[in-house]
Amino acid sequence: MPLHIAIIMDGNGRWAKRRKLPRIAGHTKGIESVRTIVTECRRLGIKHLTLYAFSHENFSRPEEEVAALMELLTQYLRIEEQEMIDNQIRLSAFGDISLLPDETRQALEDVKKATMSQEGMRLNLALNYGGRQEILTAAKSIAIDYASGSIQLESLSEADFSSRLYSYDQPDPDLLIRTSGELRVSNFLLWQIAYTELYITDVLWPDFREKELQDAIAAYQSRTRKFGRVVE
Ligand code: IPE
Ligand code: IPE
Ligand code: MG
Repeated sequence: MPLHIAIIMDGNGRWAKRRKLPRIAGHTKGIESVRTIVTECRRLGIKHLTLYAFSHENFSRPEEEVAALMELLTQYLRIEEQEMIDNQIRLSAFGDISLLPDETRQALEDVKKATMSQEGMRLNLALNYGGRQEILTAAKSIAIDYASGSIQLESLSEADFSSRLYSYDQPDPDLLIRTSGELRVSNFLLWQIAYTELYITDVLWPDFREKELQDAIAAYQSRTRKFGRVVE
């Protein structure tokens, strides 16, 4: 079993377009997949699940779509809080949440606090997240500590760098799933996916449910991870 699964939940717009529905209808349906996949990962014993819900660049979408997405996420958090506690799920946010609407940020803070001591599964929601921004922020914090004399560059390790990322206390993803067939990483977890196994499916996110997750895990289980070594 992968210890950590990360998912680029893509294709809500296309799901809606195929049905001649507004894009928001796709996002609403996508929330059902979020619920299903969180529950299924918990059932399967996955210890870390990271969901790309909103990229830094998604802020350049039309204002109504951004507002609707934030509203849906806020509702999701409010509705799921008790469910997360009951299922020992601890929520974290990856990304600069200071730029989210107040209600969304507040809901995140509340659920994070309410689930802080849960140890069954870590659920990381990437919101206003960008891999480059995350790396740049870490680099700046290193520069500040260097300037103040509190770190030495010679001894700075990869682990030290990792400890300055949103994922500081969690392992790198073993499996990265992207729905809807795009062959790109769209600024997701750039540092953390160095040796992650990639799985891309044409299934659109609103159609991605238990069976599709199990297929992705089965594909992962058939891979040979080499990490640059020779594996006979
Ligand atoms: C993913 O679906 C959801 C977010 C990026 C927030 P999209 O909205 O990107 O769907 P497509 O790519 O237009 O189909
Ligand atoms: C990536 O999907 C972001 C999320 C799934 C939240 P996008 O739809 O924004 O990515 P691009 O624009 O196709 O690269
Ligand atoms: Mg997309």
